[in-house]
Amino acid sequence: MRILSGIQPSGTIHIGNYFGMVKKMIESQNDGELFAFIASYHALTSVKDKAVLEQNTFEAAVNFLALGMDPEKSTFWVQHDVKEVLELYWVLSNHTSMGLLERAHSYKDKTARGIQANHGLFSYPVLMAADILLFDSNIVPVGKDQIQHVEMTRDIATSINHAYKQELFVLPQSKVDEDVATVPGTDGAKMSKSYGNTIDMFNTKKKIKKQVMGIVTDSKELDEVKEWQNCNIYKLSELFMNENELKDLQKRYETAGEGYGHFKLTLLDKINEHFAPYEERRVHLLENPKEVHEILAYGASKASKIAGEKMKIIRDAIGLI
Ligand code: ADP
Ligand code: TRP
Repeated sequence: MRILSGIQPSGTIHIGNYFGMVKKMIESQNDGELFAFIASYHALTSVKDKAVLEQNTFEAAVNFLALGMDPEKSTFWVQHDVKEVLELYWVLSNHTSMGLLERAHSYKDKTARGIQANHGLFSYPVLMAADILLFDSNIVPVGKDQIQHVEMTRDIATSINHAYKQELFVLPQSKVDEDVATVPGTDGAKMSKSYGNTIDMFNTKKKIKKQVMGIVTDSKELDEVKEWQNCNIYKLSELFMNENELKDLQKRYETAGEGYGHFKLTLLDKINEHFAPYEERRVHLLENPKEVHEILAYGASKASKIAGEKMKIIRDAIGLI
């Protein structure tokens, strides 16, 4: 079974990204053959700065490798290193109706938010379909906002299979993890880089401390009993603590004498402890970009082999000989 997922290179990664997506993806290496890539072409729809795109792509690669992406077991590459995807994108475009793309929620949401409509943004789902179909992917783990794009992929694949009267493409299935709760930000709303309420995974100790100390609480004093049930510090602590540690924390809330600052420091320790094992590898990779580029080149060569063979079959089937 082939599992495929793409990640847009968004630079700094926060603990919402980690628990919502990154951790699941790394764990899925045990469920099947994982194909994971950094969606650099897709990022062009929003990042128009050369240095930012280069840096974000590099950092995304470093973060995934540090967190356990295994380049031997899985195929891990940067999207623009396997150019067959652009050829397939064009082929698929000729079987994608305007109506299908016009119904895309993601496109409608983005333009409604004032992002300028251009052809890249409009045809984004076709490139995503090419990513998925090029590798005969069976399962595509995605967030809720991407389900429609996988449905569109199935529509496009069905239309081509029908046109050429053969099973040229595997119909992929999206996989949405219902039990991934939305990680709250420091203000209690969904943690998101667009809301400025994040706690970063990898940043300076000082910056992470500042973010944790900025968690919003009510204004109960040290000598008052506090409620853990709806407290943002407690909700975030649940991600990092085991049952016994949470029971202890509940007791501390229910016993007067400590303030929210103390609970924040306990959480900060747990966050640092949680990510410390990955830090050494991350620093090593950051300091050795050549090693990172070699790993990505190796991934691209594995992906290219499959993509090249698939494209040959497609060209033969449609008359591009
Ligand atoms: P952001 O909202 O910070 O811009 P993205 O939209 O780039 O994050 O999300 C990247 C991935 O991380 C997606 O798969 C998304 O589902 C996941 N993710 C982002 N924020 C959260 C959150 N607060 N809780 C759970 N998952 C999240
Ligand atoms: N559109 C996805 C996102 O923004 C990223 C992506 C690009 C992707 N190509 C993909 C995800 C193929 C899964 C499969 O999150």
